[in-house]
Amino acid sequence: MSSQSKPRILFRREEIETTVKRLAVEIKKDYQGKHPLLIGILKGSFVFMADLIRLLNFPLEVEFIRISSYGGNKESSGRIKVVQGLRSPIKERDILVIEDIVDSGLTISFLLDYLWQRKPASLKLCALTDKPSRRQVPVTIDYLGFTVPNEFIVGYGMDWDEKLRYLPDICFVEVED
Ligand code: IMP
Ligand code: MG
Repeated sequence: MSSQSKPRILFRREEIETTVKRLAVEIKKDYQGKHPLLIGILKGSFVFMADLIRLLNFPLEVEFIRISSYGGNKESSGRIKVVQGLRSPIKERDILVIEDIVDSGLTISFLLDYLWQRKPASLKLCALTDKPSRRQVPVTIDYLGFTVPNEFIVGYGMDWDEKLRYLPDICFVEVED
């Protein structure tokens, strides 16, 4: 049975709001006159993406992709596969991938390779959080919300074993398998 401690707040909802606004300004500036396709990685990015797109009031489309890398534990398995693929073609599109957290980097580098093979016009990454201390492969994050310490993060869409996604603040928890 896995267990976790009481969540402690790392970034409050007001701070998240300010950060998402800042990211929206950066993205709007770069995508002027374009019609990008935003691809959210399920499930962790859905809250962030919902807030972000409502601040990006220019023409864009939304897609989701689901990849499996995490089970109930907190380590990336390194065995990654696409569980639910894209419905829209991405060839020659401007693609912006929306991720909740870049940890080892294995998941996102797999996905970026997968998308590059489909020949988009451009491919960028927006991540709400980054845990650089855990990186195993290099990843360029074009738009970054927060750098986080080497702790397990939950809330604002992010889970521990499917729990705690609903927390409105970004929190950390101590977890045990
Ligand atoms: P990576 O392949 O190790 O970079 O893991 C990335 C994925 O693992 C993210 O998309 C998250 O879904 C999940 N993940 C990694 N660290 C955390 C965390 O601290 N909290 C919640 N999910 C995490
Ligand atoms: Mg994820």
